[in-house]
Amino acid sequence: MHDPEQLRALHKARFHAEPQVFAAPGRVNLIGEHTDYAEGFVMPAAIDFATLAGISPRTDGKIVLYAENYAEQREFDAKALPKKPSKDWSDYPLGVLSILQGEGHTIPAFSLTLWGDVPLASGLSSSASVEVATALAVTLLVGVQYPGGVLARLCQRAENEFVGANCGIMDQFISANGAEDHALLLDCRDLSFRLAPIPPHVALVIANTMVKHSVAGGEYTSRRAQVEEAAAVIGRHRPEVKFLRDATLDDLKRWGSEMSPEAVKRARHVISENTRTVAAADALMKGDLKELGRLMAEAHVSYSQDFEASCVEADAMVALAQDLPGLIGARLTGGGFGGCTINLVERAHAEEFSEGLSARYAEETGIVPQVMICHASSGAHKVS
Ligand code: GLA
Repeated sequence: MHDPEQLRALHKARFHAEPQVFAAPGRVNLIGEHTDYAEGFVMPAAIDFATLAGISPRTDGKIVLYAENYAEQREFDAKALPKKPSKDWSDYPLGVLSILQGEGHTIPAFSLTLWGDVPLASGLSSSASVEVATALAVTLLVGVQYPGGVLARLCQRAENEFVGANCGIMDQFISANGAEDHALLLDCRDLSFRLAPIPPHVALVIANTMVKHSVAGGEYTSRRAQVEEAAAVIGRHRPEVKFLRDATLDDLKRWGSEMSPEAVKRARHVISENTRTVAAADALMKGDLKELGRLMAEAHVSYSQDFEASCVEADAMVALAQDLPGLIGARLTGGGFGGCTINLVERAHAEEFSEGLSARYAEETGIVPQVMICHASSGAHKVS
C-alpha cells in the first residue's frame, strides 16, 4: 500500500523542499452503472488504493510535475500552461489547473510529486484519484477550501473539458467524499447522498480481469450517446423528461419503437438500474445482504445483456464466483468493457474465496488475475 513517508522522502530528494501531502482514493462501485450522467443513482465506496500528492511552492515561476509511477518529470511555465491535452499522464493534473484558472485562480509556481497504487486502466478510477489529489493539493496551496462536492465537479470538468473523456460525476465525487467502512448512495442530480455502513464481517473483494478498460474509449462514449438518444425520444412526448432518471419502463414500452434497438436496451438497463440502486442502498442499510446480493446479480445481467458493456472475461469472473464460499454478490464494476468485478464476501471466507477465484479464472481464461481484499476507506484528505 502507498506510504506517505516514502512520498515525502521522494519529494524532498528531488525538489529539496518539505511537501504537504494529500491522498485521494480510487473507488469501487457496488451498483449503479452508467446512471450518473443520466442524473440517476450510484452506490460506490472509496477503496484503500490511492494517489498521493506532495506539493511545495517554488520561486522560479515553474510548475514541475513528477510521477513516480512513470519515473517522469514535466516542466511548465506557470504563466503559460498548456490549453490542450497531449495524451500524457500530465493531462490530468494540467486539466485541474486549467479548470482552476478558469475559475479565476492564479496558479502559483510549485513542485508536485504524484505516486499512486490504484491499478491503472482497471475501472477503479485511477484518473479521478489523480485529479482529486491534485485539486486538493493545489487549492490548499492557494488558500482555497472547496466543499467535497464542488471539488469533485471541478475535477469532473477537468476530465470532460481538458482531457476529453465524457465521464459522469461518480468517480470524482466518491474520491473526494468517501467514508471509512461505508458505501455512499449518491443522487447524481443534486449531489445529495446517504452513507450506508458496510458491516465489518463483509469484505470488498476486487477481481481484476486484466482486460484493459478506458473511459476515453469509443464504447463508453457510444453507450452514453445511446442513453441520451433514448432520453431525447421520451422527452419529445414528456417534455419534463430530460434525463433517463425521470423515465419509466412504461415510457420505454410506449415510445421504444421510435428509438434504435440499441437505445431501447441501454435505456432498459439505466431505468431498471436506478431502481435497483436505491433498493440496494435500502437493503444495505437494513443489513439485508441477501437482497443486496440478488440486486447485484440482476445488475450484472442487465449490464452484460442490455447495456452490453461486459466482456467474456468479466462474465466468466462473475460466473466463477457464484458457488465459492462466502459470496454475497458479484458484478462487473465501473465503466465496463474490462476492468474489475466487485465481490461482496463474508470476511471469514475472503482469503479462501480470493484464492479459489484466482485459480478458477486462470484455468478458464489462461489469464492470471489480480484479486484484492479491500475495505471501504475515507475520501481525499491531507496526510498529517
Ligand atoms: C466511469 C465514469 C463514471 C461512470 C461509470 C459507469 O467510471 O467515469 O462517471 O459513468 O464509468 O457507471
